Amino acid sequence: MCSRTIQAHGQCSLALSGGSTPRPTYTLLAQPSYAVRLDWSRVHVFWGDERLVPPDHPESNFRLAWEALLCHVPIPAENIHRIAAELPPQQAADRYEQELRRFFSRSADPQSPDPHRFQTFDLLLLGLGMDGHIASLFPASSALYERERWVVAVEHSAPPPPLVPRVTLTIPAINAASHVAVLVAGEEKADCLKQVLSPAESAPLLPAQMLRPTPGVLTWLVDQAAASRLDH
Ligand code: 6PG
Repeated sequence: MCSRTIQAHGQCSLALSGGSTPRPTYTLLAQPSYAVRLDWSRVHVFWGDERLVPPDHPESNFRLAWEALLCHVPIPAENIHRIAAELPPQQAADRYEQELRRFFSRSADPQSPDPHRFQTFDLLLLGLGMDGHIASLFPASSALYERERWVVAVEHSAPPPPLVPRVTLTIPAINAASHVAVLVAGEEKADCLKQVLSPAESAPLLPAQMLRPTPGVLTWLVDQAAASRLDH
């Protein structure tokens, strides 16, 4: 998908997910037989969210991607748009927001029928939390209802760990991606995935149910164990 985007537009903007699910995917992408398929000089890497810990911290989403993928491929340092998690939360969010708006305004298509409709990432990878969260948008968080900013800082003091402040994309920024792919694996996600895809009438809205990339595409990449409660 990134190769086709590079052929069509000269570059591909890829936002990576944190958490443990994507690690095997990143490791596979780093294998020479896969890595050679991409012109990494034309790939720009971002993150959907970040825990506010140093970039070399075991819980850092940057460190996960760096170790599993980015240190193994010839991507220019300037193409890695790390969230400055060492800054205070609001400064980290503001800096990332500025970087995103600068990057996507440069790549906006002036010939677009609606030049004011912003588009963000060519491909955005997300995981699914057992509580239905995506990125660091957790149930009942006011950040879920942010409709102007692309990036916000969120406190996070209840499970799932790590219980550290986060910086996260907002729903508008996520839904402005051309392609959103949600990676879901493991039996422990089966109940939540069923709730997201086949919600009970009275059930509260979960963050993952707010995924509506428009006009983009939403793809669920689900293993058998996570799909085990789905009707079809
Ligand atoms: C994070 C992730 C988060 C993650 C889900 C699923 O920073 O924690 O962005 O949204 O994708 O919590 O995590 P697992 O893949 O570890 O189950």
